[in-house]
Amino acid sequence: MKDIDWIKRYGLEEDTLPGHVGIIMDGNGRWARNRHMPRTFGHKKGAEVVRDIVLSSSKFGVKALTIFAFSTENWRRPKDEVDTIMTLLSQYLRNEIAALNENDVVFRVIGDRSGLSKMLLQLIEESEELTRNNTGLRFNVAINYGSQAEILNAAFALAKDYKEGKTALDREAFETRLYTSGLPMVDFLIRTSGELRISNFLLYQIAYAELYFTDAYWPDFNTERYVEALKDYSHRNRRFGGV
Ligand code: FPP
Repeated sequence: MKDIDWIKRYGLEEDTLPGHVGIIMDGNGRWARNRHMPRTFGHKKGAEVVRDIVLSSSKFGVKALTIFAFSTENWRRPKDEVDTIMTLLSQYLRNEIAALNENDVVFRVIGDRSGLSKMLLQLIEESEELTRNNTGLRFNVAINYGSQAEILNAAFALAKDYKEGKTALDREAFETRLYTSGLPMVDFLIRTSGELRISNFLLYQIAYAELYFTDAYWPDFNTERYVEALKDYSHRNRRFGGV
């Protein structure tokens, strides 16, 4: 829940914070390799960072946070790494959903659910159901997500519904067919680990987002680094194509 003292303690100002933050959590593998540890160790530490950043976002009064946990291309990774990430997602939900609910967070998964295990799917659905009527931070985790597929599927669905006379053909009708239907557009996109790419994440939704790249690997990201990024955002002059 929004906490004015917390905002002030970190030297932030309420009215210059972004409404919707997107995060590409990158660098788990390199962080682990630098420590002579398996890549999965980096993902485990990365999952702990997720917990902190979600709670900070909630206290800062950020309206929506969308994080990229697993892309449609990530299935190509070694099986043990894929299994670890999926297990971490399940563990995260099991351990954190009560706290998220207490903090009035609305949890949702975006992406193609058809590839997920029955058990994870059930946990996701229960978590979404439990938190759906909350009114605080809207926390979205992108799993088996790819933005081009999202856009194409929305376009195909719209064409089909339009042909069947079920919808108007306009921007709203298109946007309600995206996974992010009902969410505001992304204001601020953060990517960790020094890579300067978008990697098929929220391509439509970041049209006017401010971009922030940090060299820190995701496991080294924390509330202090998040605050640094938010302070940088607060000084941006957003013009949305105007002057
Ligand atoms: C990118 O680092 C990270 C991922 C593909 C996985 C992200 C998953 C987690 C942080 C854990 C589970 C998430 C939640 C929501 C609890 P990389 O492996 O591509 O790193 P590299 O570029 O250094 O190899």
